[in-house]
Amino acid sequence: MTGQARVSLTAFIADEQDDPHLGALVDAVASACWSISRIVRKAALDGNLGTTNCHNVQGEDQKPLDILANDEFFRALGQCPQVAAVLSEEVGEVIWMKAPKRGDFTLSCDPLDGSSNLDANLSVGTIFAVGQVANDGDRTVLKTGRSLRCAGYAVYGPSTMFVLALNGQVNGFTLDEDADDFVLTHPNLKIPPETSEFAINASRQAHWDDAVTDYVEGCIAGEQGPRAKTFNMRWTASMVADVHRILTRGGVFLYPADAQNRSQGGKLRLMYEAIPMAMIAEAAGGAATDGIAPILDIEPQGPHQRIAVVLGSSSEVSLIADGYR
Ligand code: AHG
Ligand code: MN
Ligand code: MN
Ligand code: MN
Repeated sequence: MTGQARVSLTAFIADEQDDPHLGALVDAVASACWSISRIVRKAALDGNLGTTNCHNVQGEDQKPLDILANDEFFRALGQCPQVAAVLSEEVGEVIWMKAPKRGDFTLSCDPLDGSSNLDANLSVGTIFAVGQVANDGDRTVLKTGRSLRCAGYAVYGPSTMFVLALNGQVNGFTLDEDADDFVLTHPNLKIPPETSEFAINASRQAHWDDAVTDYVEGCIAGEQGPRAKTFNMRWTASMVADVHRILTRGGVFLYPADAQNRSQGGKLRLMYEAIPMAMIAEAAGGAATDGIAPILDIEPQGPHQRIAVVLGSSSEVSLIADGYR
């Protein structure tokens, strides 16, 4: 950063838009992420690894950190008077914090993403999306991604980063632990349209549709195959970490619906995984589809609805969508 002006997240938001309430909200979310980062880093010391005897509404085992991260999120948002409603992966129903007034915010969040990675000390994250109440009394939290004000994630990796999609642009901020500040380090992130890297949980191959099998076979066939190039594969089992890699060097991420998960719609959750990541992908010049439609155009049917996700470099996303057609 030597020689460059240091731009904090707070200053950046204030400069980017004229709604101080939205700025205060993003600051509150970032401060929750900062607290979650500390809790994650100290988990082994504080006895917070392992599992609990609890399950969330989707039947997943909850880790102690899933619950602590969720509590941290609600604590931070409870201090924002403009937050009307919060939908969390870890809570069955939408929580109303107040009677909704026009301009209030609604939040969807995955407080801790990739929690199966926690005991292995691998990267995890937090995902969020911010919507807005259209009129006094409007209690519609389930809206398409096109109506969002902003979306973002924090990744708790070798450094903690906060990535924000706002006004059609994606910017990355790194937590400076010494200054207690998120600092703009990755301005205007763009996903390159072309890539030779893909991410999928290949252990599910026996359940894939032909479109997915054909795509992956094309990638791994190498120079002699239909793609005539060598592809690399990565899978972290933490969507935040996979998407962050794609934002920094390109790639495509797939968690398709398959024969095993199709009755549920797929694995990833529309409101707090697919939609925020789709907003980030599009704002970074990439694309995101469920194989049929852009994820941002899908009308949500339920708070914990699951959906197929293909996102990242636009040329690969188009190719996979063509395969589905
Ligand atoms: P969460 O930890 O919030 O429940 O999300 C886990 C998700 C996502 O982060 C990741 O891409 C995917 O589940 C991993 O699934 P597999 O275990 O099937 O690889
Ligand atoms: Mn979970
Ligand atoms: Mn998740
Ligand atoms: Mn989660």
